[in-house]
Amino acid sequence: MRFSTTLFGLVATIATLVFANNDNLQPYTIYAYGINATFIPYGARVTSLYVHDRNNTPRDVVLGYDDPAQYVNDTATNHTYFGPIVGRYANRIKNGTFTIGDTDYHVPTNEHGGANTLHGGSMGYDDRNWTVTQYNTSSITFTLLDPSGSQGFPGAVLTHVTYTVISPPRLTTRIVSVSLDTYTPIMLSTHIYWNLGAFQSPTILNDTLHMPYSDRIIDIDPILVPTGELSSVKLPWQSPAVPLNFTEPKQIYEAALHSQQCGEGCTGIDNAFILDRRPYSSAEDASAPVLQWTSADTGITLTLRTNQQSLQLYSCVGQNGTIPVKASQGDGFVEKYGCLVIEPQQWIDGINHPEWGQTDRQIFGPDSPPQVLWATYDFSVQ
Ligand SMILES: *[C@@H]1O[C@H](CO)[C@@H](O)[C@H](O)[C@H]1NC(C)=O
Ligand SMILES: *[C@@H]1O[C@H](CO)[C@@H](O)[C@H](O)[C@H]1NC(C)=O
Ligand SMILES: *[C@@H]1O[C@H](CO)[C@@H](O)[C@H](O)[C@H]1NC(C)=O
Ligand SMILES: *[C@@H]1O[C@H](CO)[C@@H](O)[C@H](O)[C@H]1NC(C)=O
Ligand SMILES: *[C@@H]1O[C@H](CO)[C@@H](O)[C@H](O)[C@H]1NC(C)=O
Ligand SMILES: *[C@@H]1O[C@H](CO)[C@@H](O)[C@H](O)[C@H]1NC(C)=O
Ligand SMILES: *[C@@H]1O[C@H](CO)[C@@H](O)[C@H](O)[C@H]1NC(C)=O
Ligand SMILES: *[C@@H]1O[C@H](CO)[C@@H](O)[C@H](O)[C@H]1NC(C)=O
Ligand SMILES: *[C@@H]1O[C@H](CO)[C@@H](O)[C@H](O)[C@H]1NC(C)=O
Repeated sequence: MRFSTTLFGLVATIATLVFANNDNLQPYTIYAYGINATFIPYGARVTSLYVHDRNNTPRDVVLGYDDPAQYVNDTATNHTYFGPIVGRYANRIKNGTFTIGDTDYHVPTNEHGGANTLHGGSMGYDDRNWTVTQYNTSSITFTLLDPSGSQGFPGAVLTHVTYTVISPPRLTTRIVSVSLDTYTPIMLSTHIYWNLGAFQSPTILNDTLHMPYSDRIIDIDPILVPTGELSSVKLPWQSPAVPLNFTEPKQIYEAALHSQQCGEGCTGIDNAFILDRRPYSSAEDASAPVLQWTSADTGITLTLRTNQQSLQLYSCVGQNGTIPVKASQGDGFVEKYGCLVIEPQQWIDGINHPEWGQTDRQIFGPDSPPQVLWATYDFSVQ
């Protein structure tokens, strides 16, 4: 009796492992006329997104790998964060420490030789296997229960991420997180690497970008950790052509090849742009486009709306032509400036800067409303 129970348990364990492995890398595709997107549960991750270019040719405009198993290897090696949800707290936490009430918390410092936390610690939400809790032809929901104390964070957090596509081509991302038992930082984001030209050119430098509300950035130190200062993209003594001023449309190279406000030795964009929406629109108004980007090669135009307070943009300054693009994107490699990551999120490291007045948007307890990230990505051609 005892033996057979153990044997049954062993068989069940093996079966779980075998099927769990398959399940976590299982692709799920959602469709609407003119758009499809594919996801895997490992990281609740976007692995492809097709829209049509100006010649009506379908183009895969996100970076990733052909073999889903490669995402697991990537996490263990280069850790590019191609396409996943990042959390429980996106971006960097200075020194891996923060204080809530009278308690100091220490979370894993997984970057810059232990100087800071990146994307939730050594095992962030990108490296978790999410459960598919809803799936139909146009929408998928992934759910994650992050246990109490996970990665040193206080309390358990339950998150549902829903990706939906509709026509005219739009992707909607909705991330709803609930603190289950105590006050904890919650700041999730999506980490999609885009190339709207689908690698017809090796870089995105000729593309045009417009961020009408991005008047300010969060200042960072040489290892990209916020200093506490906020600065204007248009300091009074600078010429109108200051690199990070995208308040009128301009080509990405004008910033990416000139701005050095992206950490030690870096020339490019790796900045948190604050969304200073106009006074007549509310601070969390999700109806105003906050970013528009057009590919010089395909004419594919992305128009982004979000309820978040900032956009982290990363112009792939760390890429160096060693990771191959997907088969759907030709036979090239991901070059420096070959992509742009857009992370709608709250003010980075706001938990360590109460003077910014952002803590109500970043610290949640069992009596708080959920943290909700909403973003829509509309695709058109020019
Ligand atoms: C998640 O799934 C991947 C792929 O099957 C597997 O390699 C990894 O060990 C799993 N992670 C956890 C924490 O179970
Ligand atoms: C998504 O659309 C592209 C272009 O039409 C197509 O090649 C691809 O097979 C579609 N993906 C899936 C999983 O159906
Ligand atoms: C992942 O890494 C392992 C160990 O190096 C290797 O055997 C395997 O082929 C790799 N998988 C992929 C998909 O590259
Ligand atoms: C930095 O983290 C270490 C280790 O967790 C801690 O001992 C130290 O007090 C922290 N320093 C600051 C300035 O918070
Ligand atoms: C798919 O599910 C979503 C979320 O429940 C729902 O809004 C939508 O109507 C469903 N679509 C179809 C085609 O069933
Ligand atoms: C940008 O456009 C110019 C003029 O059309 C072209 O010569 C150059 O090769 C393009 N650069 C990239 C990186 O696509
Ligand atoms: C930002 O750039 C636009 C376009 O070049 C320019 O019109 C505007 O004056 C700039 N803002 C400032 C104050 O530099
Ligand atoms: C190129 O990038 C890869 C992946 O990020 C990294 O592992 C490698 O060290 C880089 N090589 C150089 C020469 O910078
Ligand atoms: C990590 O990057 C290096 C250099 O780009 C590449 O050779 C290697 O295959 C990458 N490893 C994985 C697992 O992606």
